[in-house]
Amino acid sequence: MTEWIWINGEVIPLSEATVSIEDRGFQFADGVYEVIRLYNGRPFTLDQHLARLERSARGIEIVPPMSATQLKSEIGKLLSRASLHDGMIYLQLTRGVAPRNHIFPQTKPTLLFYARELPPMPEIDRCEPVKLRTVVDERWKRCWVKSIALLPNVLAKNYAITNGADEAVFTEYDCVTECSASNLFAIIGKELITHPVGPKVLPGITRMLLLDIAAAVGLKPVERPLTESEAETADELFITSTTREIAWVSHWNGKPVSPGHYGEKSKKLHAILRDKIARETA
Ligand code: PDD
Repeated sequence: MTEWIWINGEVIPLSEATVSIEDRGFQFADGVYEVIRLYNGRPFTLDQHLARLERSARGIEIVPPMSATQLKSEIGKLLSRASLHDGMIYLQLTRGVAPRNHIFPQTKPTLLFYARELPPMPEIDRCEPVKLRTVVDERWKRCWVKSIALLPNVLAKNYAITNGADEAVFTEYDCVTECSASNLFAIIGKELITHPVGPKVLPGITRMLLLDIAAAVGLKPVERPLTESEAETADELFITSTTREIAWVSHWNGKPVSPGHYGEKSKKLHAILRDKIARETA
């Protein structure tokens, strides 16, 4: 099946798309991105993703070449061409093409997005757990920007994988912040706890939805730093992201963590999230 890309206003097969060697995304990782999940052929929480894209772009002084409303309509055009059921959109905005120079050039940004099929999400009871491995956080202090400069995340994830885990969880002193491509949550007593967003944590869209849902299962949403020992001994522990929704944590640095199965409260949160997805992408 042909995969389609929208690139600077043109829709073409992904395999035919090119960017210049002097695109600043390529030479400086000078850009931002978004990943949006498609369910039933429809993008979920597209407005929230486009709002974050604007904030990220502003955070590195890139002016998006079109408004969120225009972008939404262009994404719609790509999706009607792609006709996918389950999938995702990868969207990237870079400062554009210019002779290599650290100083910001006067140039048009490069904007592109493509749609890709993904397997449908499994039933909640069949969701696979993740094993986490801690890695010292060596990233920059603007993690709230969804930057394409992901090398520390890539290195951390690969370190986790070569050490028998699935995902890296970043630590700073004795605190855990987030994971290489997901946010981390702990349920302790009646609280749903996650690190505040900002210098060390991306404002995950799934994270935001879960904080909103918490009260519906009798949990108080709490945004505060979580220590490593609190995370390891939490009643329930899970990660969230656009592509994984919620994944419960089974191991921490190779050791099993309780409760050893998908926790009841986490599952309830997941069920409410699924209802919202179903309603909004019907
Ligand atoms: N990653 N934290 C980091 C560092 C991330 O890269 C992501 C998402 C998240 C979760 O954010 P959201 O719920 O908005 O997806 C948290 C995407 C999926 C990726 O890089 O592929």
